[in-house]
Amino acid sequence: RFEPLRRRTIVLVGLMGVGKSSVGRRLASALDLPFRDADSEVETAAGRSIPEIFADLGEPAFREGERRVIARLLELPPHVLATGGGAFVSAETRDLIKSKAISVWLKADLEVLARRVARKDTRPLLAGKDPLQVLKAQAEARYPTYAEADVTVETGDAAHHVTVDQIIR
Ligand code: S3P
Repeated sequence: RFEPLRRRTIVLVGLMGVGKSSVGRRLASALDLPFRDADSEVETAAGRSIPEIFADLGEPAFREGERRVIARLLELPPHVLATGGGAFVSAETRDLIKSKAISVWLKADLEVLARRVARKDTRPLLAGKDPLQVLKAQAEARYPTYAEADVTVETGDAAHHVTVDQIIR
């Protein structure tokens, strides 16, 4: 019954903390597709962590690596791909995703995201900053581009399996 959903790669986009990786993993297992995580693939390709890439090479180098990694992953057979929050914002990366995959924007209230990102301190864009303020600025800058995704799913504060069902529906 999921056959039509298994023909193209499904790319999850959205702000930090919205659950792209956790939901993606569950969606992949529900559809019996492989799961891939662009941030992890960038780390593997660079041989260092995301904070190290930002610190040692800078954000533009990270974005370039991210674009290359996503371009490579989009050539693979259909899978579920979680991207970092900035990937879909870059026009070049977005065009690639739009041309080769189904894009899904996961959306939740910024207060929910701020609470979730506070649990993990590995995000260079949040270092030493108030998460809610960063997320507000990102929402303002990025929502118009996330809105170009094929599908938008309002997740609220729902459990991941509920979001998976919503995406499939
Ligand atoms: C970023 C989000 C991060 C990671 C990097 C930059 C962003 O991924 O790619 O720190 O620009 O929003 P998550 O969305 O998985 O946190």
